Amino acid sequence: MTMEKTLIRQNIRKWVDSDQWLVGREIFVSEEIYKLEMERIFARAWLFVGHESQIPKPGDYFVGRMGEESVIMTRDRQDKIHVFLNSCMHRGMKVCRYDEGNTPVFTCPYHGWSFGLDGKLVGVPYFKEAYHSELKKDEWGLVEARMFNYKGTIWACWDKTAPDFMEYLGSMAFYMDDVLDGRDGTPGGSEVVGGVQKWITPANWKFGAENRAGDGYHNVSHRSVDLVGIGPSAGQGRRDNEIVKQRRLTATLPNGHAMMFGQQMEDVPWIPTFQSNPVVAEWARHTYEERKKNLGDRARVMGSGGNVFPNMSFWCRQPRRVAVWHPAGNALRSEYWSWALVDKTAPQEYKDLMRHYAMRYSGPAGMTEQDDMENWNYATAASKGTIAKRHPYNYQIGRGHQFTDPTMPGLLVQGVAEQNQMGMYNFWAELMMYDTWDELMDARKKQSKP
Ligand code: FES
Ligand SMILES: [Fe+2]
Repeated sequence: MTMEKTLIRQNIRKWVDSDQWLVGREIFVSEEIYKLEMERIFARAWLFVGHESQIPKPGDYFVGRMGEESVIMTRDRQDKIHVFLNSCMHRGMKVCRYDEGNTPVFTCPYHGWSFGLDGKLVGVPYFKEAYHSELKKDEWGLVEARMFNYKGTIWACWDKTAPDFMEYLGSMAFYMDDVLDGRDGTPGGSEVVGGVQKWITPANWKFGAENRAGDGYHNVSHRSVDLVGIGPSAGQGRRDNEIVKQRRLTATLPNGHAMMFGQQMEDVPWIPTFQSNPVVAEWARHTYEERKKNLGDRARVMGSGGNVFPNMSFWCRQPRRVAVWHPAGNALRSEYWSWALVDKTAPQEYKDLMRHYAMRYSGPAGMTEQDDMENWNYATAASKGTIAKRHPYNYQIGRGHQFTDPTMPGLLVQGVAEQNQMGMYNFWAELMMYDTWDELMDARKKQSKP
């Protein structure tokens, strides 16, 4: 282990103080920590790459990212989905330079090696003349990640020793289903509508992730949008469904996952009824009734936002979205990608309305996300100075008020809380401290022993 790594390891618990619920600013601005994150977080955790509806046919591909690195998500002729490192095995050139499309083969633009949809090296120029037919093609296919398709979302992981995806996700699945299942509660059935919004901002990637993990406290940031009223029915507030009476809760889950949700206190559709459009309003009312039939008591738990560690955030309500906060070259730069999801079976009017709503609401030109970005950008700039770094951030909302409930997984706090951010940083600290998943698991076992 290098000196830097040893120093970081020794200081992790100073920076992530799970006793006092404080987090050192260093972890948001230090280049050394950022470099270690690439190895310890992004090369080891399960990461969201894209949605299967983006590649419906064999040969379709979508170029995604895992951490800083470009990857190709593609569907082969047997309908199997793969995730490959987008880097040629000959001299590293990107084998795919488009965002998405359809192809029978990925041909490297540099010297012309070509790779099949299953990643195998299938074509080598001058194979006989230059390589004397001696190159072992089966050893030089594209680097492939482990892949898991969870209800249409495609996840990938580079670490062969990491737990399987479902074990990694754990009880977070209970909550995440609210973004991936149909509005009527039927499993899966979502699709991406429109393209992927992408933008770069001068802030650490963790700002976005922790905001979606549990920041129900920053309403003041969006005051102007609330006043304007940009909900899909152009009514009061940002969203149509905020009128529902609910008990607000946060859930801190194992492996750094985190959720904000509501427990419904009255029988009002939590799918906004979109009064501005009668077709959509009728569909929403109908799906709400179906949801109650399909889910019973579970229907009363309504997810709002959450974060699957490390950087896949989602919003279950409207506009329903997935957002990924990619690290982008250094500690002070990230690239955000945002997808809008709708029910596959929804009427076209609903899909159009949601697409427009997502554009109006989210992304660099959306009215709400600009507020968030501005906060993260200025917080980053104001946190990197020598004096600033001496003072940790405060995450103490809800400290000492956690409880459990057998009907809802995780450690819970009622109302606004910052336990979720602490849960995320605690797991971040574990991954940063231990060299392997096995070491981490052993340490956990030891801790849980009386
Ligand atoms: S870098 Fe791809 S063929 Fe040479
Ligand atoms: Fe926000």
